[in-house]
Amino acid sequence: MSSSLEIPDDEKGYDLDLFCIPKHYENDLERVFIPHGLIMDRTERLARDIMRDLGEHHIVALCVLKGGYKFFADLLDYIKTLNRNSDKSVPLTVDFIRLKSYSNDECTNSVKVIGGDELSALSGKNVLIVEDIVETGKTMQTLLSILNGYNPKMVKVVSLLVKRTPRSSGYRPDYIGFEIPDKFVVGYALDYNEYFRDLSHICVMSEQGKQKYKV
Ligand code: HPA
Ligand code: MG
Repeated sequence: MSSSLEIPDDEKGYDLDLFCIPKHYENDLERVFIPHGLIMDRTERLARDIMRDLGEHHIVALCVLKGGYKFFADLLDYIKTLNRNSDKSVPLTVDFIRLKSYSNDECTNSVKVIGGDELSALSGKNVLIVEDIVETGKTMQTLLSILNGYNPKMVKVVSLLVKRTPRSSGYRPDYIGFEIPDKFVVGYALDYNEYFRDLSHICVMSEQGKQKYKV
């Protein structure tokens, strides 16, 4: 099973005053949950694990927008560092997709891939899907079944976060940064109604923040 840094249910995180938080979010957050430095350090190791397994062939890194953009950029920077400092290196190309979920009357979710190049370009390639968070796992399972229809050589999934939740389908990504309790988190490109993507640390919102940015 994929290893991850497990954050326990009783983890309290850190007082906001111990870190630098943008003024405009000061009252909208409760605690810092995963400091930016820890995200970076864990991402560095994920890059190494991924290159160990995928570093033989051209990799197509597929960023799932918008939440995945920070993790994608930092992960690829670490992979590039490995590529320029090792005896072996592989070309890395990138693509960016967004997923649109539709719920129909029977509550069965369907997912549509929007943006990005033609998925037929993935045929025969090693594909690395880069996601911010896996919660139920249903979206990722649907995306995987769509991509597999285009005959890639291999598909691996890396998710920065996996939430421990009874809503999980049991799906686990191949590489996991952190396993977190069933709390709503924001920052490092994860949003609440588009806010908090411009926050470096992963944080837990305050009641005021939830009210203020409610739609
Ligand atoms: N935060 C932000 N986006 C999310 C989350 C979360 O905790 N879970 C699923 N999407
Ligand atoms: Mg996401």
